[in-house]
Amino acid sequence: MASPVKIPRHIAIIMDGNGRWARERGFSRIRGHEQGAESVRAVLRACGEVGVEFLTLYAFSTENWKRPKAEIVALMKLLERFLKKETPELMEQNVKLQAIGRLTDLPPACQSELHRSIEKTSSNTGVTLILALSYSARMEIIDGVKSLLDAVERGHIDKAMIDVEMFSKHLYTRYYPDPDLLIRTSGEMRISNFLLWQLSYTEMYVTPKMWPEFRKEDLLDAINEYSKRQRRYGGL
Ligand code: IPE
Ligand code: IPE
Ligand code: MG
Repeated sequence: MASPVKIPRHIAIIMDGNGRWARERGFSRIRGHEQGAESVRAVLRACGEVGVEFLTLYAFSTENWKRPKAEIVALMKLLERFLKKETPELMEQNVKLQAIGRLTDLPPACQSELHRSIEKTSSNTGVTLILALSYSARMEIIDGVKSLLDAVERGHIDKAMIDVEMFSKHLYTRYYPDPDLLIRTSGEMRISNFLLWQLSYTEMYVTPKMWPEFRKEDLLDAINEYSKRQRRYGGL
């Protein structure tokens, strides 16, 4: 008899390939991002169905600010619209929304929609959806170091007390367990400054599928593959 599928508690996704998906079809890159939002809906729903507790989505990196202004504006508008339109759906699905990154870099309208949605969904007990926005793992680590130094200076902690667990508590992700499974779409074999600290022992799954065409079956394929992995954490 096949062993039961192990469901990862926390899945993190680098949602990549929106631009290439659009180009292959002669569409604008923006259309690729819009279609990518459909994948977010599908994957979030599927996570709720199979019992994933945390879903972290890499939606916009600090480096993505280097893109042409028109694309950035369109992405921010899309985010704002998504939050406005999707919040009732998040309530319906009992999803708790959270965000990590330098959120104050976002346009004010996005920030207020984001905070409104986070506030509104704060008592929900289903999937925790964590959006990484203007996120950089290196920045997060630097912010963590500054926060620790601050605590030392104020005399709240002693330098000798700093260990892995304490440092984790000074990161943006302090409320969440480390991801069990990292998915990257569009075939790229890199981390692109995502959760560098937290991914230390995460299982990685790369699919050639572009993000706009990633659906529930693709998520289940990834979970199935994860289920077969043997996690050793350096032991035997
Ligand atoms: C991912 O798709 C979305 C963001 C990074 C915002 P891309 O926009 O990177 O699409 P490609 O990689 O150019 O195909
Ligand atoms: C990673 O995708 C960032 C997000 C998915 C938000 P990129 O398209 O920005 O990454 P690179 O440039 O291919 O490394
Ligand atoms: Mg890309």
